[in-house]
Amino acid sequence: MKIAIVGKGGTGKTTISACLARLLGRDGYRVIAVDADPSLNLSIALGVPPEEAAKKPILFDEEEFIKSRTQLSNGLYVMNPKVDDVIEKFGIKAPDNVILIRFGEVKRAGSRCLCPEYAFLRALFSHLILGRKDTVIFDMVAGLEHMSRGTLRGIDLMLCIVEPSLKSIEVAIQMEKFAKELNIKEFSIIANKIRNHKDMELISGIMKKQPIISIPYDEAVIEADKIGVSLLDYSPNSNAVKAISKLKEIIKQNLNISH
Ligand SMILES: Nc1ncnc2c1ncn2[C@@H]1O[C@H](COP(=O)(O)OP(=O)(O)OP(=O)(O)O)[C@@H](O)[C@H]1O
Ligand SMILES: [Mg+2]
Repeated sequence: MKIAIVGKGGTGKTTISACLARLLGRDGYRVIAVDADPSLNLSIALGVPPEEAAKKPILFDEEEFIKSRTQLSNGLYVMNPKVDDVIEKFGIKAPDNVILIRFGEVKRAGSRCLCPEYAFLRALFSHLILGRKDTVIFDMVAGLEHMSRGTLRGIDLMLCIVEPSLKSIEVAIQMEKFAKELNIKEFSIIANKIRNHKDMELISGIMKKQPIISIPYDEAVIEADKIGVSLLDYSPNSNAVKAISKLKEIIKQNLNISH
């Protein structure tokens, strides 16, 4: 099962990715949690101790490694570099049977898709989506750019996080269009930071596609963030965790996911 978590900046992607990854891990799934956002917030949200994170480098910081996999001696580069050992080399042990991988920032900004670094990134996405049996959860960078690059082609489920704001709803509507173009099998909306029925009405009133779940606005999420602790460790019985547990059950039941 391959799940991508997308949406406007600050809507709750990392919080939900981390919690979902650990809850699926507790249920016995082998989960790879991918921090595909250069701001690298997922390790804290997962509750990875800093000393554990420090044991493994950030993938795109390892320029020599990427070069060794992608460059040919004649100045050309390999379109399909070897990536099948990347999880073993860069994977960090996180709680609840989760392995974290941190992509970091692709260094070749500006030249867009036609560079060895992006060839490596494309090959890696493809390997994680199509080449592995594990459950993979991608915590994506905010916005739409990654959608236009098509790196998420082949995933089973795209969860788009929406908060009660017009901007986040607009992003979700665009995301849905992209998801259709990429033939993503399942595109679902998650309403987050919901305080009351008016918040839900705002989302339901504008979006044709209705949220599969609403996660309440919960101070526990803010407090856990403030001190850099995983929500699941800080407040396992919080309403936000309860809602994300429900989301996990919906995913398992409706999508019939395999381990
Ligand atoms: N259900 C919630 N209730 C209250 N606050 C929340 C909730 N979900 C997320 N937040 C808060 O919203 C902020 C953004 O959350 P998070 O980092 O998970 O979002 P994100 O979409 O990953 O952001 P970014 O686009 O910057 O990566 C954080 O301060 C977090 O504590
Ligand atoms: Mg984030």
